[in-house]
Amino acid sequence: MSERHAWDALAPWWKETFTGGADPEYALEIVPIAAETLAGCRRVLDLGCGEGQVARALAAAEQGRQIVGLDPSAGQLENARAAGGPPRYVQGAGEALPFARGAFDGVVCCLAIEHADDVDAVLAEVARVLEVGGRFVLLINHPLFQGPGSGIVDDRILDETYWRVGPYLTEQRGPEEVDPGVEVVFAHRPLSRYLNPLAALDLLLVEMREPPPRRELLAGSPDPDLEAAIPRLCALVFEHRPAPSPRGARIGGARPGRGDEGGDRRSWPST
Ligand SMILES: C[S@@+](CC[C@H](N)C(=O)[O-])C[C@H]1O[C@@H](n2cnc3c(N)ncnc32)[C@H](O)[C@@H]1O
Repeated sequence: MSERHAWDALAPWWKETFTGGADPEYALEIVPIAAETLAGCRRVLDLGCGEGQVARALAAAEQGRQIVGLDPSAGQLENARAAGGPPRYVQGAGEALPFARGAFDGVVCCLAIEHADDVDAVLAEVARVLEVGGRFVLLINHPLFQGPGSGIVDDRILDETYWRVGPYLTEQRGPEEVDPGVEVVFAHRPLSRYLNPLAALDLLLVEMREPPPRRELLAGSPDPDLEAAIPRLCALVFEHRPAPSPRGARIGGARPGRGDEGGDRRSWPST
């Protein structure tokens, strides 16, 4: 993977704006959720690890835990390695993970799947590398409330503040200006585009968290009470539990790609 990745140019902005405590949402919400939901997992993959802040926190949270961060962007990985620590980093894409079947008992994917081209391939790869009984923690921007065209509206004429929801069911991919002069490509998908493929891959939803935005993060909001009731983050926790019934007996008939067609790739921990 020698060609430049879109996130190489974004790596300095990401590091400055979101890591090292710059974005309190990580310290207050994201990292604690990842640590709690992956408690007890010993071999963890951070898929789309970026600058590695979640991987480092997970490594620090439990002694002896092996953690690998994977990201397609050399720029992000350079910053991750420069931050040091025990996570090992591998360059690669979620659509083709360079690990053996069942190599991990935990996989976390934090605010990264929205940037992947092929969500079905990524989810199939997660199912392949996650051992039976393993846990998958998927953190996404809440698709219902944070999609394109969504956000708070402060209507001064009607003297009303409300939350507008964009075209939730329309899958779309495109650039969004996230900071002045900074454009990031996001894919918006309804929740069913994650939950249904995962169900077909025997990844059972065991917990869903929609943390209310914390008051200290809402300074400057025209209506903090309203915003405190609109989740930004959606955390989904799945367990890999293959169905005991014969394949053919499953409701809904044919099952989409199960993530085990590609055979084993390089095995843990040889990359
Ligand atoms: C918003 S950053 C999140 C980084 C990190 N997970 C965190 O929470 O700090 C998104 C990351 O997804 C990565 N990414 C983009 N496409 C990807 C893909 N197909 N597979 C895996 N990661 C991808 C980007 O390179 C980027 O580092």
